[in-house]
Amino acid sequence: MNRPIRSFVLRQGRTTPAQKRALDELLPKYGIPFSSAKLKSSRYAPLVLEIGSGMGETTIAIAKDHPEADFVAVEVHGPGIGSLLNAVDKERLTNVRVMRHDAVEVLEQMVDDASLTAIHLFFPDPWPKKRHHKRRLVQPAFAALMARKLIPGGSLHAATDWPDYAEQMAAVFGAEPLLEPAHTGFAARPSTKFESRGRKLGHPIRDLHFRRRT
Ligand SMILES: C[S@@+](CC[C@H](N)C(=O)[O-])C[C@H]1O[C@@H](n2cnc3c(N)ncnc32)[C@H](O)[C@@H]1O
Repeated sequence: MNRPIRSFVLRQGRTTPAQKRALDELLPKYGIPFSSAKLKSSRYAPLVLEIGSGMGETTIAIAKDHPEADFVAVEVHGPGIGSLLNAVDKERLTNVRVMRHDAVEVLEQMVDDASLTAIHLFFPDPWPKKRHHKRRLVQPAFAALMARKLIPGGSLHAATDWPDYAEQMAAVFGAEPLLEPAHTGFAARPSTKFESRGRKLGHPIRDLHFRRRT
């Protein structure tokens, strides 16, 4: 069988009882199943897609700061999805939806071209070993896919604490004809535990801002 190279390995780790309850009870409420239907804002609001939302700290903070926008967080890690769902419910956020699926397939199949106001890609798995670099999300074809899904002027905001991945991002985004460098993104990026872990290891944090050419 020809298996695609994925950017993740599904090691779900420990799921706490609260996360499990959230997956059972809240995913039907806030989740969007993977299907052939296209993602749409329910109220003509700007639509922001977050790729690999982890435990969802960033998703929650940005969604609270931007009630005018709708957010779709895509993640494959069950415990992280459970934590995010619990936070959405606790904060009574009405502008966050959650997808438990591979973000590559979501972008390819559920997102119309020129429909996203922003894409957030914060601390994607760095796959530091050279033989694993092919698993990194940021590659020319994926950059082209993300760029096509943004509205003209729409923002692509990525962050990483791995210097060689930051260089790869800058080179790949810089070479994508639909993208141009930008100074800021859609929202300020709050810190997460991946960022503090990187800082503790002495890694420099880099934010990369690009936008779709108008
Ligand atoms: C290093 S973590 C960062 C999480 C979060 N963005 C943060 O800053 O705390 C990367 C996350 O991306 C998720 N991920 C990797 N590839 C993905 C994909 N193709 N689709 C959805 N999620 C993915 C992983 O499961 C993991 O939770």
